[in-house]
Amino acid sequence: MEKTYLMVKPDGVQRHLIGKLVQRFEEKGFQLIGAKMFRLTREQAEYHYEEHKDKPFFGELVAFITSGPVFGMVWQGDNIVALSRAMMGKTNPLDAAPGTIRGDYALNTGNNIIHGSDSPQSADREISNFFRPEELMTGDYPVGLPLNTVTDKVIPV
Ligand code: GTP
Ligand code: MG
Repeated sequence: MEKTYLMVKPDGVQRHLIGKLVQRFEEKGFQLIGAKMFRLTREQAEYHYEEHKDKPFFGELVAFITSGPVFGMVWQGDNIVALSRAMMGKTNPLDAAPGTIRGDYALNTGNNIIHGSDSPQSADREISNFFRPEELMTGDYPVGLPLNTVTDKVIPV
């Protein structure tokens, strides 16, 4: 099953958007397999945004993403990388269509509410930067049915 790393950035957390954003991905039908509130270390932030290290906004980007708590999540589902990025909308909110997360909630590129991995390879790299394997659910589980987190078995209803 394809996985992705989604992260409510410090602006989204401060604006109390965690619940609304989780709801969008749950309602789409994706499965949440791990989540936590935490603050990125400088090392985690520099590694996460390594591809941008030569860009003029790199310092600002690292300062922003380490400025407060984030809500990091691992989700799985068919084609989740491409589908979740479509749900997030374009990086610059000026280009993000209404109905997308950034189209609905963001006003500028620096504060664009949410991060999502741009490929399955990036997802693996990002997940291992923020989560230990034992923090993630393993296997598949039917959406909508309660799961015993110790046995990984669906609890009969
Ligand atoms: P992420 O999911 O956050 O990785 O966004 P993205 O994949 O849509 O965009 P990209 O990876 O190209 O850029 C990473 C992040 O850098 C963006 O989400 C922005 O927050 C930030 N960023 C990109 N361009 C600029 C810029 O010109 N100025 C500032 N301040 N930030 C930028
Ligand atoms: Mg990116």
